[in-house]
Amino acid sequence: MDTDDAPTCPSRRALLAGAGAGLAAALGGCATYGGQQQSPPAAPPAAAGAALAQTGDIPVGGGTVFAAAKVVVTQPQPGTIKAFSAVCTHQGCTVGDVSGGTINCPCHGSKFRVADGSVANGPAAAPLPAVNVRVEGTAIHLG
Ligand code: FES
Repeated sequence: MDTDDAPTCPSRRALLAGAGAGLAAALGGCATYGGQQQSPPAAPPAAAGAALAQTGDIPVGGGTVFAAAKVVVTQPQPGTIKAFSAVCTHQGCTVGDVSGGTINCPCHGSKFRVADGSVANGPAAAPLPAVNVRVEGTAIHLG
């Protein structure tokens, strides 16, 4: 009779008799490591300035709207990343998509050029303001 096992753990004999798919799980629940509990690895710290996107995510000649961040990121030429406010200068809608070389507002049809945010089609009269971004490797960061 085994006497060295804790009452809640199956004996070694029982584990050997029942060896199979459940063995690892049974052992896992009773394992100790040098008498100390193991903690899971700490999660990485919340990344200050986590990447908004990767350069490969931004279509060349187009762009991507990040509505939550109120930013639209464009790539007018390969490797040239630009960003603009996603708030339409007409009446403040969030621009909806980027297609045909323009950033398009769904509310009244304004269009802004991906290269510089300038107005390609009204009723908006003012360009989308530029937003600072930096590219580190392939990661696009705001600021
Ligand atoms: S709010 Fe964008 S076109 Fe009117």
